[in-house]
Amino acid sequence: MEKVKEIIKYFSAKLEHRFLSNADFYQLFSLSRQVSAGGRVVEIGAGAGCSIITMGIGSQAMNKNIELITIDPFVWTRQLPPHTIYKELGRDVKKEDILARFRENIAHWGLEVILLQETSVSGCRKIGDESVDLLFIDGNHQYHAVKWDILNYRPKVKKGGIFCDHDYQKCHPGVRKVVDEAFDENIFRVLGASSIWVEK
Ligand SMILES: C[S@@+](CC[C@H](N)C(=O)[O-])C[C@H]1O[C@@H](n2cnc3c(N)ncnc32)[C@H](O)[C@@H]1O
Repeated sequence: MEKVKEIIKYFSAKLEHRFLSNADFYQLFSLSRQVSAGGRVVEIGAGAGCSIITMGIGSQAMNKNIELITIDPFVWTRQLPPHTIYKELGRDVKKEDILARFRENIAHWGLEVILLQETSVSGCRKIGDESVDLLFIDGNHQYHAVKWDILNYRPKVKKGGIFCDHDYQKCHPGVRKVVDEAFDENIFRVLGASSIWVEK
């Protein structure tokens, strides 16, 4: 777990706001340790790279032969205004800044990450069914978008793979609503003190 401390320290110094809490970093790292050699990790929502780097370092700790893919358009539209996505970073933040930070952070940690620079909707066609060992959703946090991502990316996960999502918390009512609906069927559980939920 020394590596997680190092990752947290790095991002705490680097970013005005980390999108992951300490508990999130630890939980994500533990989940990614379960990915076996030859496996594949896919993320929706790269941001500045905290989560894909954590999953990359965790999953590749024993074996480098693990494919890392993250999907993010790095584009803001009327449906995805910057102030709802990056409000914590300041209203004048530009998409190029985040993309540059992402690249810089990936390079710092020496990881090879495939960036699909598009939305989860179009990126979905590029990920085969039952081809993913660990899938983490952290893209558009609005209710219908989260639901779309869950329904369309769940089939991408291999049998016995891990399907999880970020931000089960009050400040993301869309995520909570989707998960609470799913909880009726006892499908998901939230991990410890984190805001990560995972399929049981
Ligand atoms: C909360 S940030 C992700 C933080 C990142 N996981 C981290 O740990 O640093 C959400 C990201 O999702 C991206 N995003 C928004 N809508 C998306 C969509 N439909 N498909 C893929 N990414 C999306 C945004 O551009 C933004 O970078």
